Amino acid sequence: VNNGLARTPQMGWNNWNTFACDVSEDLLLETSQLLIDYGLRDLGYNYVVLDDCWSRGRGKDDYLIVDEAKFPNGMKAVSDRLHDKDLLFGMYSSAGEMTCARYAGSLDYEKQDAESFASWGVDYLKYDNCYHMGRFGTPIVSFNRFNEMAEALKATGRSILYSLCSWGEDYVHTWGPSIANSWRISGDIYDSFSRPDDLCGCGDPTDPHCVAPGTHCSVLNIINKVAPYIDRGLPGGWNDLDMLEVGLGGMTDEEYKAHFSMWAALKSPLLLGNDLRAMDAKTLSIINNPAIIAISQDPRGKAVQRVSTNTSVAKDEYGIGEVHVWSGPLANGDQVVILLNAANEDLHISASLAEIFVMDGPGGSAPQVQQTWAVHDLWESRMTETDAAAVLGQDKGALKGSYNATEIPYAKGLAE
Ligand code: GLA
Repeated sequence: VNNGLARTPQMGWNNWNTFACDVSEDLLLETSQLLIDYGLRDLGYNYVVLDDCWSRGRGKDDYLIVDEAKFPNGMKAVSDRLHDKDLLFGMYSSAGEMTCARYAGSLDYEKQDAESFASWGVDYLKYDNCYHMGRFGTPIVSFNRFNEMAEALKATGRSILYSLCSWGEDYVHTWGPSIANSWRISGDIYDSFSRPDDLCGCGDPTDPHCVAPGTHCSVLNIINKVAPYIDRGLPGGWNDLDMLEVGLGGMTDEEYKAHFSMWAALKSPLLLGNDLRAMDAKTLSIINNPAIIAISQDPRGKAVQRVSTNTSVAKDEYGIGEVHVWSGPLANGDQVVILLNAANEDLHISASLAEIFVMDGPGGSAPQVQQTWAVHDLWESRMTETDAAAVLGQDKGALKGSYNATEIPYAKGLAE
Protein backbone atom coordinates (compact mmCIF):
# COMPACT_ATOMS: atom_id res chain seq x y z
CA VAL A 1 0.00 0.00 0.00
CA ASN A 2 1.21 3.44 -0.78
CA ASN A 3 1.67 4.88 2.74
CA GLY A 4 5.34 5.75 2.36
CA LEU A 5 6.47 2.75 4.43
CA ALA A 6 8.25 -0.49 3.45
CA ARG A 7 9.57 0.89 0.17
CA THR A 8 12.05 -1.95 0.62
CA PRO A 9 11.14 -5.05 2.68
CA GLN A 10 11.03 -4.27 6.40
CA MET A 11 13.82 -5.64 8.60
CA GLY A 12 14.00 -6.26 12.32
CA TRP A 13 13.51 -8.85 15.02
CA ASN A 14 10.41 -10.63 16.36
CA ASN A 15 10.35 -12.70 19.54
CA TRP A 16 7.92 -15.44 18.43
CA ASN A 17 10.19 -18.09 16.85
CA THR A 18 12.37 -18.39 19.95
CA PHE A 19 10.36 -17.07 22.87
CA ALA A 20 6.69 -17.56 21.92
CA CYS A 21 4.66 -16.22 24.88
CA ASP A 22 7.66 -15.69 27.14
CA VAL A 23 7.77 -11.93 26.48
CA SER A 24 8.83 -9.02 28.68
CA GLU A 25 10.12 -5.48 28.66
CA ASP A 26 13.55 -6.84 29.62
CA LEU A 27 13.64 -9.17 26.63
CA LEU A 28 12.81 -6.37 24.19
CA LEU A 29 15.24 -3.88 25.69
CA GLU A 30 18.13 -6.32 26.00
CA THR A 31 17.56 -7.45 22.42
CA SER A 32 17.41 -3.89 21.18
CA GLN A 33 20.80 -3.12 22.73
CA LEU A 34 22.28 -6.22 21.08
CA LEU A 35 20.90 -5.16 17.70
CA ILE A 36 23.00 -2.03 18.16
CA ASP A 37 26.10 -3.66 19.65
CA TYR A 38 26.36 -6.22 16.85
CA GLY A 39 25.89 -3.63 14.12
CA LEU A 40 22.54 -5.10 13.07
CA ARG A 41 20.51 -1.94 13.53
CA ASP A 42 22.91 -0.10 11.28
CA LEU A 43 22.54 -2.82 8.65
CA GLY A 44 18.81 -2.11 8.55
CA TYR A 45 17.28 -4.35 11.25
CA ASN A 46 15.40 -1.51 12.86
CA TYR A 47 11.97 -2.86 13.90
CA VAL A 48 11.70 -4.61 17.27
CA VAL A 49 8.40 -6.50 17.10
CA LEU A 50 6.57 -7.85 20.13
CA ASP A 51 4.36 -10.78 19.11
CA ASP A 52 1.39 -12.38 20.90
CA CYS A 53 0.67 -12.68 24.67
CA TRP A 54 1.25 -9.13 25.95
CA SER A 55 -2.24 -8.20 27.21
CA ARG A 56 -4.46 -9.26 30.06
CA GLY A 57 -7.80 -8.67 28.48
CA ARG A 58 -10.07 -5.79 27.68
CA GLY A 59 -11.21 -3.26 30.26
CA LYS A 60 -14.73 -1.96 30.88
CA ASP A 61 -13.84 0.98 28.66
CA ASP A 62 -13.24 -1.49 25.77
CA TYR A 63 -9.50 -0.74 25.61
CA LEU A 64 -6.87 -3.50 25.90
CA ILE A 65 -5.00 -3.78 29.21
CA VAL A 66 -1.25 -4.36 29.13
CA ASP A 67 0.02 -7.23 31.31
CA GLU A 68 1.99 -5.30 33.91
CA ALA A 69 3.82 -8.37 35.14
CA LYS A 70 5.52 -8.54 31.73
CA PHE A 71 5.55 -4.81 30.98
CA PRO A 72 5.68 -3.05 34.36
CA ASN A 73 6.22 0.39 32.82
CA GLY A 74 3.61 0.05 30.08
CA MET A 75 4.07 0.06 26.33
CA LYS A 76 4.76 3.76 25.92
CA ALA A 77 7.86 3.36 28.08
CA VAL A 78 9.07 0.52 25.84
CA SER A 79 8.54 2.48 22.64
CA ASP A 80 10.22 5.56 24.13
CA ARG A 81 13.30 3.52 25.00
CA LEU A 82 13.39 1.98 21.52
CA HIS A 83 12.97 5.35 19.84
CA ASP A 84 15.81 6.75 21.96
CA LYS A 85 17.97 4.01 20.43
CA ASP A 86 16.87 4.89 16.87
CA LEU A 87 14.80 1.72 16.67
CA LEU A 88 11.11 1.30 15.83
CA PHE A 89 8.46 -0.57 17.83
CA GLY A 90 6.15 -3.25 16.48
CA MET A 91 3.20 -4.89 18.19
CA TYR A 92 0.75 -7.68 17.45
CA SER A 93 -2.97 -8.30 17.46
CA SER A 94 -5.45 -10.46 15.57
CA ALA A 95 -8.42 -9.83 13.28
CA GLY A 96 -10.41 -12.18 15.44
CA GLU A 97 -12.17 -12.55 18.74
CA MET A 98 -8.93 -13.91 20.20
CA THR A 99 -5.29 -13.94 19.16
CA CYS A 100 -3.79 -17.27 18.17
CA ALA A 101 -2.56 -17.79 21.74
CA ARG A 102 -6.08 -16.97 22.98
CA TYR A 103 -5.52 -13.45 24.26
CA ALA A 104 -8.06 -10.72 23.49
CA GLY A 105 -8.30 -10.02 19.75
CA SER A 106 -9.18 -6.79 17.95
CA LEU A 107 -12.20 -7.85 15.86
CA ASP A 108 -14.92 -5.22 16.39
CA TYR A 109 -12.53 -3.17 18.54
CA GLU A 110 -10.32 -1.95 15.73
CA LYS A 111 -10.82 1.73 16.54
CA GLN A 112 -9.98 1.40 20.24
CA ASP A 113 -6.94 -0.79 19.61
CA ALA A 114 -5.55 1.38 16.81
CA GLU A 115 -5.87 4.34 19.17
CA SER A 116 -3.95 2.43 21.85
CA PHE A 117 -1.20 1.48 19.43
CA ALA A 118 -0.87 5.07 18.22
CA SER A 119 -0.85 6.46 21.76
CA TRP A 120 1.90 4.02 22.75
CA GLY A 121 4.08 5.16 19.85
CA VAL A 122 3.79 1.91 17.89
CA ASP A 123 5.36 1.99 14.41
CA TYR A 124 4.36 -1.46 13.10
CA LEU A 125 1.37 -3.77 13.56
CA LYS A 126 1.45 -7.49 12.82
CA TYR A 127 -2.20 -8.45 12.46
CA ASP A 128 -3.07 -12.14 12.74
CA ASN A 129 -5.94 -14.29 11.54
CA CYS A 130 -7.13 -16.51 14.40
CA TYR A 131 -10.67 -16.88 15.82
CA HIS A 132 -12.33 -14.87 13.09
CA MET A 133 -15.78 -16.15 14.04
CA GLY A 134 -16.60 -17.46 10.60
CA ARG A 135 -15.81 -14.11 8.99
CA PHE A 136 -13.59 -15.61 6.31
CA GLY A 137 -13.96 -17.99 3.40
CA THR A 138 -14.11 -15.52 0.54
CA PRO A 139 -11.62 -12.81 -0.43
CA ILE A 140 -14.11 -10.02 0.20
CA VAL A 141 -15.07 -11.23 3.67
CA SER A 142 -11.43 -11.49 4.75
CA PHE A 143 -10.59 -8.21 3.05
CA ASN A 144 -13.28 -6.44 5.08
CA ARG A 145 -11.99 -7.83 8.35
CA PHE A 146 -8.38 -6.75 7.67
CA ASN A 147 -9.43 -3.47 6.06
CA GLU A 148 -11.24 -2.40 9.24
CA MET A 149 -7.88 -2.22 10.99
CA ALA A 150 -6.21 -0.56 7.99
CA GLU A 151 -8.82 2.21 8.18
CA ALA A 152 -8.56 2.48 11.97
CA LEU A 153 -4.76 2.80 11.79
CA LYS A 154 -5.08 5.46 9.10
CA ALA A 155 -7.58 7.38 11.23
CA THR A 156 -5.03 7.72 14.05
CA GLY A 157 -2.81 9.84 11.82
CA ARG A 158 0.27 7.92 12.98
CA SER A 159 2.49 6.28 10.42
CA ILE A 160 2.19 2.55 11.20
CA LEU A 161 3.54 -0.22 9.00
CA TYR A 162 0.71 -2.73 8.52
CA SER A 163 1.72 -6.39 8.25
CA LEU A 164 -1.00 -9.00 7.62
CA CYS A 165 -0.50 -12.42 9.15
CA SER A 166 -3.02 -13.89 6.74
CA TRP A 167 -1.44 -17.32 6.03
CA GLY A 168 -2.17 -17.10 2.30
CA GLU A 169 -5.88 -17.51 3.02
CA ASP A 170 -8.64 -16.19 0.81
CA TYR A 171 -6.22 -15.22 -1.95
CA VAL A 172 -4.57 -12.54 0.16
CA HIS A 173 -2.03 -11.92 -2.59
CA THR A 174 -4.88 -10.40 -4.62
CA TRP A 175 -6.15 -7.94 -2.00
CA GLY A 176 -3.35 -7.61 0.55
CA PRO A 177 -1.32 -5.24 -1.63
CA SER A 178 -4.15 -2.67 -1.63
CA ILE A 179 -4.28 -2.29 2.17
CA ALA A 180 -1.03 -3.54 3.70
CA ASN A 181 2.76 -3.31 3.61
CA SER A 182 3.14 -7.11 3.73
CA TRP A 183 0.98 -10.22 3.84
CA ARG A 184 1.85 -13.74 4.98
CA ILE A 185 1.47 -16.27 2.18
CA SER A 186 1.73 -19.51 4.18
CA GLY A 187 1.17 -21.13 7.53
CA ASP A 188 3.89 -20.78 10.14
CA ILE A 189 7.48 -21.53 9.29
CA TYR A 190 9.33 -24.05 11.39
CA ASP A 191 12.98 -24.81 11.78
CA SER A 192 13.36 -27.33 8.95
CA PHE A 193 14.65 -26.90 5.41
CA SER A 194 12.67 -29.55 3.58
CA ARG A 195 10.71 -31.76 5.93
CA PRO A 196 7.10 -31.72 4.76
CA ASP A 197 4.36 -31.52 7.29
CA ASP A 198 0.67 -32.15 6.79
CA LEU A 199 -0.03 -29.06 8.80
CA CYS A 200 1.75 -26.70 6.42
CA GLY A 201 -0.79 -23.95 5.77
CA CYS A 202 -0.21 -23.79 2.09
CA GLY A 203 -3.90 -23.91 1.22
CA ASP A 204 -3.29 -25.42 -2.20
CA PRO A 205 -4.88 -28.87 -2.42
CA THR A 206 -2.90 -29.67 -5.57
CA ASP A 207 0.43 -29.22 -3.77
CA PRO A 208 1.45 -32.65 -2.43
CA HIS A 209 3.57 -31.12 0.33
CA CYS A 210 1.05 -28.61 1.64
CA VAL A 211 -2.55 -29.17 2.63
CA ALA A 212 -4.96 -27.39 4.96
CA PRO A 213 -4.15 -24.17 6.80
CA GLY A 214 -2.13 -24.64 9.95
CA THR A 215 1.48 -24.45 10.98
CA HIS A 216 4.80 -26.13 10.23
CA CYS A 217 5.92 -25.00 6.80
CA SER A 218 9.49 -25.84 5.85
CA VAL A 219 11.68 -23.33 4.03
CA LEU A 220 11.17 -25.29 0.82
CA ASN A 221 7.37 -25.46 1.30
CA ILE A 222 7.27 -21.68 1.56
CA ILE A 223 9.55 -21.05 -1.41
CA ASN A 224 7.39 -23.28 -3.59
CA LYS A 225 4.22 -21.70 -2.25
CA VAL A 226 5.23 -18.12 -3.07
CA ALA A 227 6.74 -18.85 -6.50
CA PRO A 228 3.56 -18.17 -8.53
CA TYR A 229 2.78 -14.94 -6.64
CA ILE A 230 6.26 -13.55 -6.41
CA ASP A 231 5.55 -10.59 -8.70
CA ARG A 232 2.93 -9.28 -6.24
CA GLY A 233 5.68 -7.87 -4.04
CA LEU A 234 6.54 -4.29 -4.99
CA PRO A 235 7.86 -1.24 -3.13
CA GLY A 236 5.29 -0.56 -0.41
CA GLY A 237 3.93 -4.12 -0.11
CA TRP A 238 5.66 -7.50 0.09
CA ASN A 239 4.92 -11.21 0.20
CA ASP A 240 5.81 -12.25 3.76
CA LEU A 241 7.56 -15.63 3.84
CA ASP A 242 7.46 -15.53 7.68
CA MET A 243 10.15 -14.83 10.22
CA LEU A 244 13.68 -16.14 9.91
CA GLU A 245 14.82 -19.35 11.60
CA VAL A 246 18.54 -18.61 11.14
CA GLY A 247 20.39 -19.52 14.33
CA LEU A 248 17.67 -21.64 15.94
CA GLY A 249 19.57 -24.89 15.44
CA GLY A 250 17.32 -27.12 13.33
CA MET A 251 19.15 -26.60 10.03
CA THR A 252 22.75 -26.71 8.89
CA ASP A 253 24.64 -23.48 8.32
CA GLU A 254 24.45 -24.06 4.56
CA GLU A 255 20.67 -24.45 4.84
CA TYR A 256 20.47 -21.25 6.86
CA LYS A 257 22.48 -19.43 4.20
CA ALA A 258 20.07 -20.69 1.55
CA HIS A 259 17.07 -19.71 3.71
CA PHE A 260 18.46 -16.19 4.29
CA SER A 261 19.47 -15.72 0.64
CA MET A 262 16.07 -16.80 -0.66
CA TRP A 263 14.17 -14.57 1.78
CA ALA A 264 16.34 -11.62 0.70
CA ALA A 265 16.06 -12.27 -3.04
CA LEU A 266 12.32 -13.04 -2.85
CA LYS A 267 11.86 -9.68 -1.07
CA SER A 268 10.33 -11.07 2.07
CA PRO A 269 10.48 -8.97 5.21
CA LEU A 270 13.64 -9.99 7.10
CA LEU A 271 12.60 -10.45 10.72
CA LEU A 272 15.24 -12.21 12.75
CA GLY A 273 13.77 -14.88 15.02
CA ASN A 274 16.78 -15.98 17.04
CA ASP A 275 17.92 -15.22 20.58
CA LEU A 276 20.48 -12.45 20.19
CA ARG A 277 21.71 -13.10 23.72
CA ALA A 278 22.92 -16.55 22.71
CA MET A 279 24.04 -16.01 19.13
CA ASP A 280 27.16 -17.61 17.66
CA ALA A 281 29.51 -15.92 15.20
CA LYS A 282 28.39 -18.16 12.35
CA THR A 283 24.80 -17.02 12.77
CA LEU A 284 25.83 -13.39 12.90
CA SER A 285 28.04 -13.80 9.85
CA ILE A 286 24.99 -15.04 7.94
CA ILE A 287 22.52 -12.37 9.00
CA ASN A 288 25.03 -9.52 8.64
CA ASN A 289 26.17 -10.37 5.12
CA PRO A 290 25.88 -6.88 3.63
CA ALA A 291 25.76 -8.07 0.02
CA ILE A 292 22.73 -10.26 0.69
CA ILE A 293 21.08 -7.43 2.60
CA ALA A 294 21.80 -5.09 -0.30
CA ILE A 295 19.86 -7.47 -2.56
CA SER A 296 16.91 -7.42 -0.16
CA GLN A 297 17.02 -3.64 0.04
CA ASP A 298 17.72 -2.93 -3.63
CA PRO A 299 15.63 0.11 -4.60
CA ARG A 300 14.18 -1.58 -7.69
CA GLY A 301 12.32 -3.99 -5.40
CA LYS A 302 12.01 -6.78 -7.94
CA ALA A 303 12.06 -10.33 -6.60
CA VAL A 304 13.93 -13.10 -8.37
CA GLN A 305 11.80 -15.49 -10.41
CA ARG A 306 12.27 -19.19 -10.89
CA VAL A 307 13.67 -19.98 -14.32
CA SER A 308 14.04 -23.75 -13.91
CA THR A 309 13.31 -26.66 -11.60
CA ASN A 310 14.96 -30.09 -11.77
CA THR A 311 13.41 -32.87 -9.71
CA SER A 312 15.52 -35.70 -11.19
CA VAL A 313 17.95 -35.56 -8.29
CA ALA A 314 18.63 -37.55 -5.11
CA LYS A 315 15.80 -37.38 -2.53
CA ASP A 316 16.13 -37.10 1.23
CA GLU A 317 14.42 -39.31 3.81
CA TYR A 318 11.15 -37.44 3.26
CA GLY A 319 11.25 -38.00 -0.49
CA ILE A 320 12.18 -34.37 -1.12
CA GLY A 321 14.91 -33.31 -3.52
CA GLU A 322 14.95 -30.58 -6.16
CA VAL A 323 17.19 -28.00 -7.75
CA HIS A 324 16.07 -24.53 -8.76
CA VAL A 325 17.63 -21.67 -10.67
CA TRP A 326 16.29 -18.22 -9.76
CA SER A 327 17.18 -14.93 -11.38
CA GLY A 328 16.23 -11.28 -11.21
CA PRO A 329 17.49 -7.77 -11.89
CA LEU A 330 18.88 -5.11 -9.57
CA ALA A 331 18.44 -1.39 -9.96
CA ASN A 332 21.93 -0.93 -11.42
CA GLY A 333 21.46 -3.50 -14.20
CA ASP A 334 23.28 -6.31 -12.40
CA GLN A 335 21.55 -9.67 -12.15
CA VAL A 336 21.05 -11.85 -9.07
CA VAL A 337 21.33 -15.56 -9.85
CA ILE A 338 20.62 -18.27 -7.30
CA LEU A 339 21.50 -21.92 -7.82
CA LEU A 340 19.46 -23.59 -5.08
CA ASN A 341 20.60 -27.12 -4.35
CA ALA A 342 17.78 -28.73 -2.37
CA ALA A 343 18.87 -32.19 -3.52
CA ASN A 344 20.28 -34.84 -1.27
CA GLU A 345 23.66 -34.81 -3.05
CA ASP A 346 26.46 -32.45 -4.05
CA LEU A 347 25.86 -31.26 -7.58
CA HIS A 348 27.31 -29.06 -10.27
CA ILE A 349 24.47 -26.81 -11.35
CA SER A 350 24.73 -24.80 -14.52
CA ALA A 351 22.58 -22.03 -15.90
CA SER A 352 23.00 -20.39 -19.28
CA LEU A 353 22.74 -16.65 -19.83
CA ALA A 354 19.71 -17.32 -22.03
CA GLU A 355 18.00 -19.04 -19.07
CA ILE A 356 19.06 -16.38 -16.60
CA PHE A 357 17.53 -13.60 -18.67
CA VAL A 358 14.44 -15.52 -19.74
CA MET A 359 12.13 -13.41 -17.58
CA ASP A 360 12.96 -10.35 -19.63
CA GLY A 361 10.59 -11.77 -22.22
CA PRO A 362 10.86 -12.40 -25.96
CA GLY A 363 13.50 -10.21 -27.49
CA GLY A 364 14.58 -8.91 -24.12
CA SER A 365 17.48 -11.21 -23.57
CA ALA A 366 19.67 -10.82 -26.64
CA PRO A 367 21.86 -7.85 -25.65
CA GLN A 368 22.44 -9.19 -22.14
CA VAL A 369 23.36 -12.62 -23.41
CA GLN A 370 25.93 -11.09 -25.76
CA GLN A 371 27.45 -9.03 -22.96
CA THR A 372 30.38 -10.22 -20.87
CA TRP A 373 29.49 -10.65 -17.22
CA ALA A 374 31.70 -10.69 -14.14
CA VAL A 375 30.48 -13.23 -11.57
CA HIS A 376 30.66 -12.61 -7.83
CA ASP A 377 29.81 -15.29 -5.29
CA LEU A 378 28.28 -13.33 -2.43
CA TRP A 379 28.92 -16.09 0.12
CA GLU A 380 32.23 -17.61 -0.94
CA SER A 381 34.08 -14.37 -0.49
CA ARG A 382 31.96 -12.58 2.01
CA MET A 383 32.26 -8.87 1.42
CA THR A 384 32.37 -5.71 3.43
CA GLU A 385 29.50 -3.34 2.92
CA THR A 386 31.74 -1.02 0.93
CA ASP A 387 32.83 -3.81 -1.41
CA ALA A 388 29.30 -5.10 -1.78
CA ALA A 389 27.98 -1.65 -2.50
CA ALA A 390 30.67 -1.15 -5.14
CA VAL A 391 29.94 -4.48 -6.80
CA LEU A 392 26.24 -3.76 -6.80
CA GLY A 393 26.85 -0.22 -7.98
CA GLN A 394 24.89 1.11 -5.03
CA ASP A 395 26.03 3.93 -2.88
CA LYS A 396 25.89 3.39 0.84
CA GLY A 397 22.54 5.13 0.97
CA ALA A 398 21.03 2.01 -0.56
CA LEU A 399 21.75 0.29 2.72
CA LYS A 400 20.05 1.81 5.72
CA GLY A 401 22.51 3.12 8.27
CA SER A 402 26.23 3.53 8.03
CA TYR A 403 27.57 0.07 8.71
CA ASN A 404 31.18 -0.64 7.88
CA ALA A 405 31.90 -4.33 8.22
CA THR A 406 35.53 -3.77 9.07
CA GLU A 407 34.54 -1.75 12.14
CA ILE A 408 31.93 -4.16 13.45
CA PRO A 409 33.23 -6.48 16.15
CA TYR A 410 31.03 -9.15 14.71
CA ALA A 411 32.72 -11.92 16.57
CA LYS A 412 33.00 -9.89 19.75
CA GLY A 413 32.07 -12.00 22.71
CA LEU A 414 30.86 -14.76 20.46
CA ALA A 415 32.13 -18.27 20.03
CA GLU A 416 33.87 -18.71 16.69
C1 GLA B 1 0.14 -17.39 14.53
C2 GLA B 1 1.11 -16.61 13.65
C3 GLA B 1 2.49 -16.66 14.27
C4 GLA B 1 2.45 -16.09 15.68
C5 GLA B 1 1.41 -16.81 16.51
C6 GLA B 1 1.16 -16.12 17.85
O1 GLA B 1 0.43 -18.75 14.53
O2 GLA B 1 1.11 -17.09 12.34
O3 GLA B 1 3.43 -15.93 13.47
O4 GLA B 1 2.16 -14.71 15.63
O5 GLA B 1 0.16 -16.88 15.85
O6 GLA B 1 0.20 -16.78 18.63
